[in-house]
Amino acid sequence: MVAASTGHSVTLVDTSDDILKKAVKGIEGSLKRVVKKKFADKPEAGEEFVQKVLQNVSTSTDAGSAAQGADLVLEAIVENLKIKQDLFSGLDKLAPAHTIFASNTSSLPISDIASSTNRLDRFGGLHFFNPVPMMKLVEVIGTSATSQETFDSLLNFSKMLGKTPVSCKDTPGFIVNRLLVPYIVEAIRLHERGHGSKEDIDIAMKLGAGYPMGPFELSDYVGLDTMKFIMDGWNEKDPDNPLFAPSEMVNKLVAEGKYGKKTGEGFYKYK
Ligand code: 3HC
Repeated sequence: MVAASTGHSVTLVDTSDDILKKAVKGIEGSLKRVVKKKFADKPEAGEEFVQKVLQNVSTSTDAGSAAQGADLVLEAIVENLKIKQDLFSGLDKLAPAHTIFASNTSSLPISDIASSTNRLDRFGGLHFFNPVPMMKLVEVIGTSATSQETFDSLLNFSKMLGKTPVSCKDTPGFIVNRLLVPYIVEAIRLHERGHGSKEDIDIAMKLGAGYPMGPFELSDYVGLDTMKFIMDGWNEKDPDNPLFAPSEMVNKLVAEGKYGKKTGEGFYKYK
């Protein structure tokens, strides 16, 4: 949506036409939300903008053929190293030589994902934040093998999207998640110890620290499955770090399929 809104031609790839249809509907809904304010006194111009942006988005279930015509491949699939590596290793054989590959991974090392390809110099990370149309930040990640030219292209692309990029090393969680995820899990631990209700902790961090959402609201928003995946991965690599220790409460909720907003229930219930 953001790339299409800034004049880029985008092919959105997913595993089924049904999911793609839902995704395009989601983009349309989100665009309408943005346009409502931006074109408040010119609704017709707003509708024209929505249609123009949607024309920049085509969809496909064939990642290989989509990559053949792409300058940039941005992957945002499931947080599973093997699945990401398989995808990129296949695309590496099909995409033109100049095509840059980037991952939107929340927590996996970019160099591990890139190792499945023969374009280590044209591989980096572009990490966006939810909700992407509103959040201004993009983390741009370079590995030790990413060329300066590739890194500069990713920085420039982020600016062309109207975002503010920051440069990150390929370290666990980059900048934001390395600080945000341990903070959220510390809040959950505080609650597990009986030292504060979810509601009070959320209110405290909103009104006392100026955060737009409290840690429980935010983890429901990000998804408890994603949070758990990030924590488990770091815990496996650095088991002595108490910041990465698992939370029983999160494990239980995830085991019950309560992932947060997207499943209708996490720490809180949603309609
Ligand atoms: N698409 C388009 N616009 C959206 C939107 C969406 N999905 N979600 C919200 N908006 C817009 C609304 O239209 C509204 O625009 P307006 O101010 O121009 O009218 C604006 O955002 C505010 O929305 P609301 O009034 O509905 O609600 P809030 O004022 O509470 O803002 C929020 C919602 C922007 C989500 C805010 O609560 C927020 O910033 N929360 C924190 C989000 C955050 O921390 N994200 C990072 C998560 S970590 C992550 O993503 C990394 C990953 O790797 C895990």
